[in-house]
Amino acid sequence: MKVTCVVDNAVCDHSTFWGEHGLTFLIETKSGCVLFDTGRSGTVLLHNLELLDIEPEAISALAISHAHYDHTGGLPTLLDQIARIPLYAHPDLLRERFSRREELKSVGLPLEREVLEQRLAFQLSAKPTEILPGVWTTGEITDRAEPEGRSAHHLVRGVEGWEPDPYRDDMALVLETGKGLVVLCGCCHAGLLNTLAHVRRTFGVDITAVAGGTHLLQADEAHLRRVIEVLRELGVPRLYLNHCTGQRAYVTLARAFGETVAPCPVGTTFEF
Ligand SMILES: [Fe+2]
Ligand SMILES: [Fe+2]
Repeated sequence: MKVTCVVDNAVCDHSTFWGEHGLTFLIETKSGCVLFDTGRSGTVLLHNLELLDIEPEAISALAISHAHYDHTGGLPTLLDQIARIPLYAHPDLLRERFSRREELKSVGLPLEREVLEQRLAFQLSAKPTEILPGVWTTGEITDRAEPEGRSAHHLVRGVEGWEPDPYRDDMALVLETGKGLVVLCGCCHAGLLNTLAHVRRTFGVDITAVAGGTHLLQADEAHLRRVIEVLRELGVPRLYLNHCTGQRAYVTLARAFGETVAPCPVGTTFEF
């Protein structure tokens, strides 16, 4: 199994890959390829796929971590390039999302449900679901005893008006490698520690690596100390951190775990 970071905020110096605020991973297996998220623009996704020599038609399934535009914005461009493939996500993916900073704006899916359903075969479920042999969604991360990866300006329309986004759709992917589990995170709004605890409970196997956005941007010192403590309890999985991890969190984790922690800009690959 091979994982490649196709879209991220960061690219290496002198790289011909393009970067943007967004995330995409490609998972290549013997049984097919899964694209996890689509980045923000679609332009960056297609450019980077081309440099990686990956034809969009080679993608056999699409998985989406959650509705936000930096993970779904590439959908319209991508859908013009591929046949009707399955879409794996949580049913709440289809819920409208908003952000209110200076003004209120929509930050969810770029396409209407009807259009998406025409172009993709919906496999929406809150339960852990196997996409290809050894490639799973986590299912909904219901138990959130540890801090979530929240942003105060993320809202949804509730029965009685605006409410904080519950991020019910936020899921990660789990790869079964034979030498433990690899967890691929989108934005970790459900919380990194909640996600890892859920994976450990659901799959009952050690986690050997974690990659992606961990949403520790606003994590204070106590939260980061707790992350370090839990990662130690888990046997210190390898960490390939990018997207919404935040510089302070990255440095704190790299100080704690040394070479076990690595950045994960566009073009990073790891094989299991
Ligand atoms: Fe997000
Ligand atoms: Fe994100």
